[in-house]
Amino acid sequence: MDKKQLAGVEAANYVKDGMKVGLGTGSTVYYTITELGRRVAAGLNIVGIPTSAATEALAKELQIPLTTFQECPRLDLTIDGADAVTPDFQLIKGGGGALLREKLVAAASDKLLIVVDDGKLYDSFAGLSIPIEVVPFAWETTARRIANSGGKWTLRERDGGPFVTDNHNYILDTVFEPVANPGRLQDVLKAMTGVVETGLFIDMADVVIVGRGDGVQTLSRTDTNF
Ligand code: 5RP
Repeated sequence: MDKKQLAGVEAANYVKDGMKVGLGTGSTVYYTITELGRRVAAGLNIVGIPTSAATEALAKELQIPLTTFQECPRLDLTIDGADAVTPDFQLIKGGGGALLREKLVAAASDKLLIVVDDGKLYDSFAGLSIPIEVVPFAWETTARRIANSGGKWTLRERDGGPFVTDNHNYILDTVFEPVANPGRLQDVLKAMTGVVETGLFIDMADVVIVGRGDGVQTLSRTDTNF
């Protein structure tokens, strides 16, 4: 198995009968969702809330029962990937552009379990790309505010035009150097008019499962009872 598959499949062991589960987005959690589909077909009883249109389509294909926040305001557990993880469990997400729904689902979950390969482990966020979801109207003025705060930005593109998220917004990929305090950066960015959400997931992850060449490593925050 490759590293992403190792981490993704291991995460499925945390999903117990009767759980309400947030289903993340990306090529690592793909393996978790596929494994959950296999277990549901074998009798596991769960309901999921997907974090993107792509994950919704995958879950439906695998016949994983889905629910809504109207029916189910709290989730037991969300499993998702990440683009970067620091030793103190801070995350950058949004490489796939699903950061807003990913954060909404994670924030409604009792626990957040992250699956990554060992190439996603970093000492700090300095120099790493931080995606920011912005309102398309006047996005240039939002980009200017970000630049005035020290961020270099590029508008994410796809097929010759701006990349459009599931929520009909744009993504600015930004680099701040250094990032001494990711929580403070999150607060500054979130307060900017035009910013919908950032890919900084601060103090949200409880457990990180890392796929390595020789197996999986499970990192748990000391203050979590997961
Ligand atoms: C999507 C995400 C993904 O979870 C993140 O980009 C990791 O993806 P992958 O597992 O494919 O490397 O945040 O918005």
